[in-house]
Amino acid sequence: MANSKGNSSTLLDRLGEMFPFDWELVRHAGAEPVPYHLKKWWFCLGGTVLYLFVVQVITGIALTFYYVPSAAEAYQSVAMITQEIRFGWFIRSLHKWSANCMIIAVFLHMLRVYFTGGYRRPRQLNWCIGFMLLGVTLTFGFTGYSLVYEQLSFWGATVACNLADAVPIIGPTIGTFMRGGAEIGPNTLTRFYVLHIAFLPTLALLLIGLHVLLIRLHGVTEFHFEGESVPERERHFRFWPDHATTELLIGVLMMYLLTIMALVFPAGLGEPANPNVTPDHIKPEWYFYFSFRLLKLTSLKVSVVFTMFLGAIVFFWPFIEERLSRVYKDADRIAVPVGVLAFLGFLVLTVWESMAH
Ligand code: HEM
Repeated sequence: MANSKGNSSTLLDRLGEMFPFDWELVRHAGAEPVPYHLKKWWFCLGGTVLYLFVVQVITGIALTFYYVPSAAEAYQSVAMITQEIRFGWFIRSLHKWSANCMIIAVFLHMLRVYFTGGYRRPRQLNWCIGFMLLGVTLTFGFTGYSLVYEQLSFWGATVACNLADAVPIIGPTIGTFMRGGAEIGPNTLTRFYVLHIAFLPTLALLLIGLHVLLIRLHGVTEFHFEGESVPERERHFRFWPDHATTELLIGVLMMYLLTIMALVFPAGLGEPANPNVTPDHIKPEWYFYFSFRLLKLTSLKVSVVFTMFLGAIVFFWPFIEERLSRVYKDADRIAVPVGVLAFLGFLVLTVWESMAH
């Protein structure tokens, strides 16, 4: 197409006419060269997390059209979504499986960043932001599960509020805030609902925005692996359209997997919540097995303080390692054994709890 000056006009030129903004910036952002190792899924798992987050937002919005956030009607509304609304079971199952996959993908992404040293200077702050995103993702899972208002999720939420009470100094305030009073009651569900559909998504968007901005400002870490010789011109490839297409293909594959999981294991529904009857075996979702086993092995207070201590070490790890390296020349060598030990500890407690009744 030719404009009045006879030059060919691209979509960006037309956009610039209608919306006067420096669209070259967009072109520039898309032209960012990406290190070749991002061709491997293991190195670009953050994009998969982002994709699953989008699936969560879309399926979550669809669910809010039918979900009723009141203690009296929540369970019934979930039953209606599952049994009566057309394709309700499918959307609910996608939401459930995508949540689980998102948590697995966040853990794997974090392991990749840790074991490749992608958190080291100058990316320490982005590690901390990432850790907050892990917290947000887990809180999404916890609050979402509680919304179903079945026996296990209700009593899981009760245990979580008791755990919050055990946090030193500010614990009782957090516990009361979560419950919306001294006891679990109608206010609790409304609070979890607001957290799940408004507060956490806003916080997640802000943190993801910051995370991605910092990735763009620093660029992704360039790795040089031993024994690998890659010619200079092959060390990078284009973000647009090459990397974007890879991400799109991963998205298609994820959707395929989620659909299979929804079809083979559709989201079910347990007994409705009964605040007067404690079930014989309370069990949280698998990603909290680790802390639940710790709770069973120690006490409420000890498990909470120990988990907070471990969380603080992970959060500040890039700075701790930097401090250590001022004393020991080879401090960066301890990262791998420390990471392997921490991961095995997490795995053992999780598997142990999964086998318990
Ligand atoms: C909602 C959760 C998250 C999203 C959407 C996300 C997204 C991303 C993306 C797209 C990248 C670019 C490279 C890649 O794909 O691996 C990245 C890199 C990075 N992420 Fe995340 N991330 C999340 C959670 C985390 C967590 C839990 C951590 C660690 C505690 C973390 C720490 C980092 C760091 C340090 C980098 C830079 C790595 C490098 O330069 O090699 N992120 N993230």
